Amino acid sequence: MLILGNADVRRLLDGQHTQIVAAVRHAYLEHARGETTVPESVFLRFPHNARDRIITLPAYLGGDEPVVGVKWIASFPGNVAAGRERASAVIVLNSPATGQPLCMMEGSVVSSRRTAASAALASATLPGAEPVEGVSVIGCGVINAEILRFLRAVHPELRRVTIFDLDAERAQAFARRCAAELKVTASVVADADEALAAHPLVSLATTAATPHIDLHACRPGTLVLHVSLRDVTIGGVLDAVNIVDDRDHVLRAATSVHLAEQHVGHRGFIQATIGDLLQKGPTHPRDAQRVTLFSPFGLGVLDLAVADMVLRTAREQGLGVDLPDFLPA
Ligand SMILES: NC(=O)c1ccc[n+]([C@@H]2O[C@H](COP(=O)([O-])OP(=O)(O)OC[C@H]3O[C@@H](n4cnc5c(N)ncnc54)[C@H](O)[C@@H]3O)[C@@H](O)[C@H]2O)c1
Repeated sequence: MLILGNADVRRLLDGQHTQIVAAVRHAYLEHARGETTVPESVFLRFPHNARDRIITLPAYLGGDEPVVGVKWIASFPGNVAAGRERASAVIVLNSPATGQPLCMMEGSVVSSRRTAASAALASATLPGAEPVEGVSVIGCGVINAEILRFLRAVHPELRRVTIFDLDAERAQAFARRCAAELKVTASVVADADEALAAHPLVSLATTAATPHIDLHACRPGTLVLHVSLRDVTIGGVLDAVNIVDDRDHVLRAATSVHLAEQHVGHRGFIQATIGDLLQKGPTHPRDAQRVTLFSPFGLGVLDLAVADMVLRTAREQGLGVDLPDFLPA
């Protein structure tokens, strides 16, 4: 059993944006081909506590070299005020031949980077009419920071970032970090609508539990990466062209698209999955008048694809702590 801590996982994934996006693309394609097994995620919640949760995402990713495993990821939003990250995770990879656990790695880096890679991949798969010179981010946490890095890697022409967060200090600190790290012009605005109107690409990664944005302030043809899943109102969903990662997964757990399905009684407002679009290729033109809303539930196969990359390179480089006597003799 190989154990990989945060520093090793981070080192192995740093600078690997293109490879991570390729791994995520591979996972979406295998999923679209029916070569995956992705049971519903299980949400562990606690009595008298609507805020915290721990989610399990078991999965099988097929292809020439199948990957099997599970991510166990906790979300405790109160951690942030205490200076800790909201999310923490562990990923276990098992042998597809014997089922035995092969590797246990710190999972928060894999999780945030696969999420960011999927958002960047969606922006490349659903291109607008113009180069991606600007993006608006709503929510200034770990996920949007990572999404900006991946967007910058996929769209090197990106130069301007418009920022909004309910916590103005967090927004200012985020703007300073992004300007320094990504060499972009980063400006903080006073409300969500101002951010929505600023660019035809928007990334929503907040911790809002109920919808608060109707998207009317967006420019025609805007692509909204709705990574946090619960920000957009039912009306906003129904007015948009909806792309998801998996209909069965995303239409649960009170996501905005789930609320929209409950409201209209069907799922016909979802136009396509990202895997279908990648399979069809080359690219899907956006509706020039309507908002396109990408709502990725976050499939366990994405974690496996990136964790498998980590395990392979860790073995090549001899990283991690090996426990040869972990399993029974
Ligand atoms: N779909 C996926 O695959 C996937 C994967 C990972 C995380 N997520 C989601 O992404 C979201 C962000 O995660 P994170 O780790 O960056 O969280 P975080 O706690 O680090 O940051 C969230 C930020 O959102 C801000 N915020 C909360 N409500 C807001 C509102 N109404 N308007 C503007 N800002 C608001 C907070 O002040 C905070 O700065 C979470 O909801 C998480 O569940 C989705």
